[in-house]
Amino acid sequence: MKKDKLALFGGNKIIKKPFKKYNTIGEEELNAVTKVIKKGILSKYLARWGDDFEGGPKVKTFEKEWANYFKVKHAISVNSWTSGLVCAVGAIGIEPGDEIILPPWTMSASAMAILHWNAIPVFADIEKETYCIDPVSIEKNISEYTKAIMVVDIGGQSADMNKINKIAKKYNLKVICDTAQAPGSLYFKKFTGTLADVGGYSLNYHKHIHTGEGGMLVTNDDNIAKKLKLIRNHAEAVVGDMGFNDLSNMIGHNFRLGEIESSIGIEQLKKLDYLIKERQRIAKRLIDGLKDLDGLNLPKIRKNCTHVYYMFFMTLDLEKIKGAKRDKIFHALVAEGLNGLSLKFANVHLLPIFQKKQAYGSKGFPWNSEINKREINYNKGICPVAESLHDKNYIGFQMCMHQMSNHEIDLMISAFKKVWRNLEFLK
Ligand SMILES: Cc1ncc(COP(=O)(O)O)c(C=O)c1O
Repeated sequence: MKKDKLALFGGNKIIKKPFKKYNTIGEEELNAVTKVIKKGILSKYLARWGDDFEGGPKVKTFEKEWANYFKVKHAISVNSWTSGLVCAVGAIGIEPGDEIILPPWTMSASAMAILHWNAIPVFADIEKETYCIDPVSIEKNISEYTKAIMVVDIGGQSADMNKINKIAKKYNLKVICDTAQAPGSLYFKKFTGTLADVGGYSLNYHKHIHTGEGGMLVTNDDNIAKKLKLIRNHAEAVVGDMGFNDLSNMIGHNFRLGEIESSIGIEQLKKLDYLIKERQRIAKRLIDGLKDLDGLNLPKIRKNCTHVYYMFFMTLDLEKIKGAKRDKIFHALVAEGLNGLSLKFANVHLLPIFQKKQAYGSKGFPWNSEINKREINYNKGICPVAESLHDKNYIGFQMCMHQMSNHEIDLMISAFKKVWRNLEFLK
């Protein structure tokens, strides 16, 4: 059939126009920003104890509304979620050389926040079907030096928090949730990110809702909240006047979110419910349309949870795709006009910083120093599930990049179906 000739081999492509870019910014944000600019106060923070230590009116309103929405005691804004993770690791009372367990299937910032405090990242493997950290692997990686677990709610749904919190209780560990990619997803009716000692969300440009750059920490613990705010805003200069005597990790930064960004955040938060429903609509239609393709595994939603589809994770069942090669399938899909696909997802333990064990300076600090108590293994092979997905099976669709109509989703499904009819030519 001529009509069925793959675009990769000169046939007509199915998707003629790239999908529309995701844009959540509108008149509401424009009006909010205009008001802030007219007022002229773009940030009200001061690095000293007093009224302005916690920022200006837009910062405070944004945080209050976030806390109400996510049903959490404290919401604390920061200028990026990377900054938020740094605050989180410092605020749970980590000592140099303490080990924190995290998954490798994440953005590098999760691990860098640990190194920031001279703590040691230890990588546990992920679950095959949800891509979140595997509680069984967490327990295998606990040593006498482990102090915390950093969970990553990757792609848009929660890690298995009941099991993880049980492990944390058993070994007396703190838990941090990196929920950058899953704002608004639910785990047993509670918001993902709020089920740990401290959690939080990214508000960078690529996320469900954004402020350009930004982040939001959440916690129900008053003492952790105090420390998060101090690390955000020059702790060392504030603790004295504040009368805060616990000086551990009270090395501050300027991680403050401005009034403009906060005014945008207030408007964006109002749109979150709708935007999540949109992601879920797209995902449902995709799943219905692709479910009969043999050898294509579609996203699995954890029981009693909801998925907000930052990513649409898929894997190939290599035994069922008739010897077709992942790379060729990918190129065939791209040639049909599909944009937003990727074949790789981070295996953070394999980055040069861990392979060479060189972070601070040139002499291998912190691994090659007295604070590191044992040999830590970052070799390929320590996380077989994450590595094998990355090397062999994974295909991801970056859902949050696009605003798709039903017609566009159907075109995407047609492109997949066409490629699947032609698998024999993709060996
Ligand atoms: C899982 C994860 N953690 C941390 C971050 C860092 O967030 P930010 O870009 O807001 O610093 C990201 C950003 O993409 C992320 O996806």
